[in-house]
Amino acid sequence: MTHPNSPAAPILSQDELKTLVGQAALQYVVSGDIVGVGTGSTVNKFIDALATIKDQIKGAVSSSEASTLRLKALGIPVFDSNEVPQLSVYIDGADEIDGHGHMVKGGGAALTREKIVAAQSIRFVCIADESKLVDKLGKFPLPVEVIPMAAQRIMAQFAAMGGQASIRLKDGQPLITDNGQIILDVLGLQIEDPLAFETQVSQWPGVVTVGVFAHQKAQVCLLGTATGVKTLMF
Ligand code: 5RP
Repeated sequence: MTHPNSPAAPILSQDELKTLVGQAALQYVVSGDIVGVGTGSTVNKFIDALATIKDQIKGAVSSSEASTLRLKALGIPVFDSNEVPQLSVYIDGADEIDGHGHMVKGGGAALTREKIVAAQSIRFVCIADESKLVDKLGKFPLPVEVIPMAAQRIMAQFAAMGGQASIRLKDGQPLITDNGQIILDVLGLQIEDPLAFETQVSQWPGVVTVGVFAHQKAQVCLLGTATGVKTLMF
């Protein structure tokens, strides 16, 4: 119990929580190894922390052009995913994570390469602030990377499920991913069974990657909370 006269714990901003979990993720980096690196503002904090121990690792496999730029700027070598059969750990953020380690990802449009690097990694460590922890996935608009010629058909398929899909725009134009494709953001979905949902949508022609990560779920989540970093194991 806190003593009535003791100073109140400082309230940390979301940015400070991201820094905390980014630094905490260093404990999962295996010395001498190549590290899988995700994308986003939380991962940027991890990359900054990783730079402080860069002499202890061989380098990174990156999940986006943005992360690659940051890694290289900080002097961390970046390897092609094809050069590295297996990674011991993949560190990435999430837009939502549930109590089983299932996630929604792709708010930063990097979901396809994120899923690829996650799939080649033994352990997925998710880093997130506590606003990302949910009982059920689906409140965050679900990102889906698609081939442009299939967009209308896929939007209709989501509508039949009760979802409202829209094409993600940047500067008034469809956002083009690192893979030259577009992103749909789908509102209003009830994702009761993330594994089954991911399997189903992944099979629709023209879907490159659906932003549900249930087959590539997290094994660990480092959650930034008001009282510090909480570790969830799944
Ligand atoms: C990018 C992602 C990110 O991991 C997700 O959007 C979380 O980002 P942030 O750490 O900025 O909140 O999936 O495609």
